[in-house]
Amino acid sequence: MTFTLGPKAASAGTRLEVFESIGSTNAEAMTRARAGERGPLWLVTDRQTAGRGRRDRAWQSPPGNLAASVVDVMEVSPATAATLGFAAGVALESALQAVSLEARLRAAGGNALRFELKWPNDVLASGRKVSGILLEAEPVDARALAVVVGIGVNVVSAPQDTPYPATSLHALGIQVGAVELFAALAEEWTRLKALWNNGHGFVAIRELWLERAAGLGRDVSVRLAGTSVTGRFETIDDAGCLVVITDTGERIPIAAGDVYFGAAASAGAT
Ligand code: BTN
Repeated sequence: MTFTLGPKAASAGTRLEVFESIGSTNAEAMTRARAGERGPLWLVTDRQTAGRGRRDRAWQSPPGNLAASVVDVMEVSPATAATLGFAAGVALESALQAVSLEARLRAAGGNALRFELKWPNDVLASGRKVSGILLEAEPVDARALAVVVGIGVNVVSAPQDTPYPATSLHALGIQVGAVELFAALAEEWTRLKALWNNGHGFVAIRELWLERAAGLGRDVSVRLAGTSVTGRFETIDDAGCLVVITDTGERIPIAAGDVYFGAAASAGAT
């Protein structure tokens, strides 16, 4: 695999390490930070054997899919670090849009595909999940946090038995490879992370995120630890919380959970 960084990433001083196979790029990135790595450093592979997802789920990364984590040490609060996930979502959506457009031009046709962001930072295509993001942060000294943003994309295949239906780029007719996608992602990440600017640019990131949001204004059900909140998806607030307006008009900001839309939301999907 010849993963490479494009010019923007390279000129931002970003480094890259490529693995033929690894347990989890997120776990390795945090191990490196504990050992003194300060980033920005991408760890990338097209095969993980112990991939980790949100909420302690496993993340399947069979050969050909993209698994990449970027580690950076920064002086921000954990709450600010959490908003970096939205920059990652926008970067990933932009990269997917760019490479899928190129793939369709190569294939001489086909309708352009719309990618959407499902809170907090999944990417959907045709209503199915094509990628997920896992953000982890840990203090490395009194002031600094190691922040690891891990991105997994179902390039060639998607798992079947998932809480939310999944698909892959190839199943959608987008013939791209992990290498091409990573190059675009690392460029977009460099751009969006600069815009995020240690959280000072979250206002702009939030706007970009909302332009790409799935289900805005629609019925949602947000489930966490056996309970659920059902209502209308109003917006995300300036901390990145999902804001739901219930039937009784109550405005509830939600910091964590799994989102379901439409019929699944009305049925209180599990
Ligand atoms: C989710 O549950 O949707 C988040 C999935 C995140 C998976 C990526 S793959 C690269 C990085 N390494 C991991 O172990 N997890 C993240």
